[in-house]
Amino acid sequence: MTQYVIEGGKPLNGIVTISGAKNAAVAILPATLLVNGTCRIENVPDISDVRLLLEILDSMGAEIHRLSPNTIEICCRNVRESEASDALVRRIRASYYLIGAQLGRFGYAKVALPGGCNFGPRPIDQHIKGFETIGAEVELQNGYVCARAPEEGLTGGRVNLDVVSVGATMNIMIGATLANGTTIIENAAKEPHIVDLANFLNAMGAKISGAGTDVIKIRGVKGLRGGFYSIIPDQIEAGTYMAAVAAAGGNVLVQNVIPKHMDCISAKLREMGAKVTEYDDAIRVQCTGTLRRANVKTLPYPGFPTDMQPQIAVCMSLASGVSVITESIYDTRFGYCAELNRMGAAIKVDTKIAVITGVDQLHGCTVHACDLRAGAAMVIAALAADGKTVIEEAEYIERGYEDLIGKLEGLGAAIKRIEAPRGAKTPAAG
Ligand code: EPU
Repeated sequence: MTQYVIEGGKPLNGIVTISGAKNAAVAILPATLLVNGTCRIENVPDISDVRLLLEILDSMGAEIHRLSPNTIEICCRNVRESEASDALVRRIRASYYLIGAQLGRFGYAKVALPGGCNFGPRPIDQHIKGFETIGAEVELQNGYVCARAPEEGLTGGRVNLDVVSVGATMNIMIGATLANGTTIIENAAKEPHIVDLANFLNAMGAKISGAGTDVIKIRGVKGLRGGFYSIIPDQIEAGTYMAAVAAAGGNVLVQNVIPKHMDCISAKLREMGAKVTEYDDAIRVQCTGTLRRANVKTLPYPGFPTDMQPQIAVCMSLASGVSVITESIYDTRFGYCAELNRMGAAIKVDTKIAVITGVDQLHGCTVHACDLRAGAAMVIAALAADGKTVIEEAEYIERGYEDLIGKLEGLGAAIKRIEAPRGAKTPAAG
């Protein structure tokens, strides 16, 4: 078991560079299955979710070369119709993109139902509805999704999503890229990574327009050629460092960001009293005094992202007054609040609402990372707390944050990573 040990109470100062977007990378890599040639992809985050996807693609026959820690060359020309390893697929939510990619490439996909962070039911009915609308026959059989295109190939069609789904929007886009006809996705999600996937596919020869709006049009093309692409910076990683500065205090330049993608997070931190200054591709966050209370409701982009909800809860735990978070994307995503309360926070949760009464100080203790963003919240709380915090099951954090330890050390934090045997009793902290 991986543990992070953090000695808190030190403000953060300096410069941090944001890596490529996880949720763009985990769609773009499976989408390379559609490409008849070599893709050189830059700004690929070196995180465990990406390493796992590369392992899956490698096991399917992709030729993968890592030219540098963040640049990958991948050629899927020789991949034959083959099933991805169930054991690997079940470990990552984004393996659902293999359904769209295999269906588009081979006209057939059989993929184990995906795993990933566990915060309540995460159905894929909208993905399936999309594949069926573009002509596929889809069945769920013993824990697998099996999708088959008709003899004459996928036809395209008009899909109106019942819920705004990031995964369904991207998966249908991938599946429809090589279809014979045109596909329209209505009520599409608008997250920056959706635009990034469309830009990647277009750079390889696809004809996709409207990404970033709620209507996306995909005109099927005969094939995609290889090419070069650079993934956008990670909005949530950037937001996590911004929230860390707000909670722990300090003055940090967060660089390699697209400030427009950060609007909602920057506005909330300003409302809470942090000074946020935007530059062309960087944002400076300065925070000295006590934060002010605020309310947040999570919404699809451009609203406040659910993936920043646990991190902003830490800021609210240290703000003066009572803040309220309403989670509207997931049924349950407040599991981490019990851990924050162990550190001295005062949070009451009622299903989709958390009421947070600000406290003067959080205190280090042993907590555990329930999922990726919950783990990020524990790190922020530990940085702001007095004393020592041990975060158990920190593997979750490494699914989505590249070199978190190195980046935080660069900002002056006292953080170390240790490997403890699973089941080992954590030494009492702080
Ligand atoms: N939903 C359905 N049916 C579907 C698909 C989704 O009912 O077929 C519901 C979900 O249950 C949820 C809502 O629609 O209530 C939105 O889910 P969405 O499909 O947008 O989420 P996702 O594609 O499974 C991605 C990110 C998540 C992020 C969400 C929302 C990836 C691999 N994951 O998940 O990221 O929380 O979008 O923005 O892109 C994370 O990075 O920590 C993370 C969990």
